[in-house]
Amino acid sequence: MKVYFVGAGPGDPDLITVKGKRLLEEADLVIFAGSLVNPTLLEGLKAEKMDSNGASLEATFARMVDSLRAGKRVVRLHSGDPSLYGAILEQMKPLEELGIEVEIVPGVSSLFAASAVLKTQLTLKGVSESLIVTRPAGTTLEKDELAALSRHGTTMAIFLGIDKIRDIVDSLDRSPDTPVAVVYHASWQDERVLLGTLGDIAAKVVAAGIDRSALIIVGDVVKRTGFRRSHLYRNR
Ligand SMILES: C[S@@+](CC[C@H](N)C(=O)[O-])C[C@H]1O[C@@H](n2cnc3c(N)ncnc32)[C@H](O)[C@@H]1O
Repeated sequence: MKVYFVGAGPGDPDLITVKGKRLLEEADLVIFAGSLVNPTLLEGLKAEKMDSNGASLEATFARMVDSLRAGKRVVRLHSGDPSLYGAILEQMKPLEELGIEVEIVPGVSSLFAASAVLKTQLTLKGVSESLIVTRPAGTTLEKDELAALSRHGTTMAIFLGIDKIRDIVDSLDRSPDTPVAVVYHASWQDERVLLGTLGDIAAKVVAAGIDRSALIIVGDVVKRTGFRRSHLYRNR
């Protein structure tokens, strides 16, 4: 008895791993993470499907265990890579306590899809050697560390916060001309990119009506300039 926690990738159905795709095709039950998973990935599967959005942890757990006990193959499908804001440990622990094996199949995070859309690097020699992945406070997080983290001056990727863009830019302790990109639905057909600065990005996001499924990338890597050559390619 085993549950596979599979990363569905950022949206483009071609961006799931080969292993993830095979497991989906073999599954008898797929529990998927709502609208963040592209429905195209679920089309044509023989598996029963359950949307975990709005379902309790207990209901999801019970469905997995009942299916496993009936000899079915179970896939839990998370958006992007399950390790980022995927809340998988709270699902895996009770399964393990029952002696049920779990396996994580990594996926392409929306972070990497956003970087690809921007045709940049998240770490870039001479610009930013580090990346901070974080999120703002909200209904499911009491307090964030945005201000303190921003003082490192590195690239920041901010998840789960586009509806709080104004508060986020106000919290960051960086110059108002710091470049910012907002990528909505990276790798989906309706993907959108907004480029701006800490000073003007909030107004652009509000004007565009983007209030979900977007990543905020802060820092000079967005500009794609000012970098130094790496030592990977030596001059002959
Ligand atoms: C619960 S988190 C899941 C993140 C996911 N595990 C990942 O690796 O991309 C959901 C948040 O991820 C971001 N997100 C997910 N898919 C996205 C996409 N295709 N484009 C932009 N942001 C996305 C948004 O910030 C969204 O609010």
